[in-house]
Amino acid sequence: MLSGKKIAANPELYFNPHIAAVPKYNAGLGLAAARAASGLEQIARLASNENPYGCSPGVQQVLSGSSVEPWRYSDPACQRLRMALGERLGVDPERIVVGNGSEEMIAAASRAFLSEGAEALTVAPCFGLHEIEPLAVGARVTKVPMTADFGFDVPALEAALARAPNAFFLPSPWNPVGAALDHEQLARVIAATPESTLFVLDEAYREFTSDAIPDGFEMLRESARSYVVLRTFSKAFGLAGLRVGYAICASVEIARMLSAAKTPFNVNAVAQAAAVAALDDQAWMQAAVARICAERERVAGELRALGLRVARSEGNFLFFSVGRSSAEVAAELLKAGVVVKPWVEAQYQAFIRVSIGAPIENDQFLAALAAILRPAAAGAA
Ligand SMILES: Cc1ncc(COP(=O)(O)O)c(C=O)c1O
Repeated sequence: MLSGKKIAANPELYFNPHIAAVPKYNAGLGLAAARAASGLEQIARLASNENPYGCSPGVQQVLSGSSVEPWRYSDPACQRLRMALGERLGVDPERIVVGNGSEEMIAAASRAFLSEGAEALTVAPCFGLHEIEPLAVGARVTKVPMTADFGFDVPALEAALARAPNAFFLPSPWNPVGAALDHEQLARVIAATPESTLFVLDEAYREFTSDAIPDGFEMLRESARSYVVLRTFSKAFGLAGLRVGYAICASVEIARMLSAAKTPFNVNAVAQAAAVAALDDQAWMQAAVARICAERERVAGELRALGLRVARSEGNFLFFSVGRSSAEVAAELLKAGVVVKPWVEAQYQAFIRVSIGAPIENDQFLAALAAILRPAAAGAA
């Protein structure tokens, strides 16, 4: 007989103990909830790293056009999209798997390459799903903390990789911190990855990086490592609500394993067509990214002017310490109609991650934060 966790409401029911034990994903508050909580109409929604400029007009056209037949199942192979991605990346489309968001590929990689007793390595603070999905299949998760100056601790990662974890989830740019691995750091991490470890390089924010940051896929494809590189249409392309991301795999065999670990019709037909249109409009994406990066530097400068320590960011978000409970500060911000993400992970509960929004949202955030921090600063003086 199976012995799982019991819950009071259904004492006879078996629960998978791994699922029952996973921590809750710390999702940003939605618009309606933020309006209800603040009583305000103008909400600066800065908790989910979305694109404040929307998406390409080409995508809007697909959404309002009549080419999609809702009564038909979507293409389980995402053929058109994989062909388009394969061509752009110069890679065999058979090595690409499309997910219902790249988050589905994190889940698929965990299901396919981990199981009870396996070890997954990641960084701290971590992107929630890099911990949740391995835990959900019964794996142990080890985390390497960031350095005091908000960077990757490469020697500590090398030491942890020497223990040959089964999978290594590394975000670069790093959500929530913002750092991205430079060429030398990535080369060292790749060299330290044993052949028995699947290197999952999560490049959800790749499009926002400066020229100094290498293309992780290009570096990994030259290595003899087993890897999966994750990318998404949610951030730079502005399709977060449609849910499309993808995995570029080291081999067709790895791609087949990921496919086997996902549901068959995982990406809906509208999302597939929209992603093709988004990919076609690189100019729109690049213009949005340029505006977001310029705003990021402005907001970082303003935060530093408030006396805060802010991590250098290569993404569309900033990470900074408020020196006290970030949950309390976030609750105060919410009263002013500003939604941010207070970090809840142990050791990082004084940190806030704020997404870069449109200038008006960023100004609303900066003004509210200055007002909240001012009395404390005055009191301390
Ligand atoms: C590092 C990282 N990976 C993956 C994801 C998942 O993105 P999506 O499922 O929308 O593609 C996110 C979303 O915030 C992220 O920050």
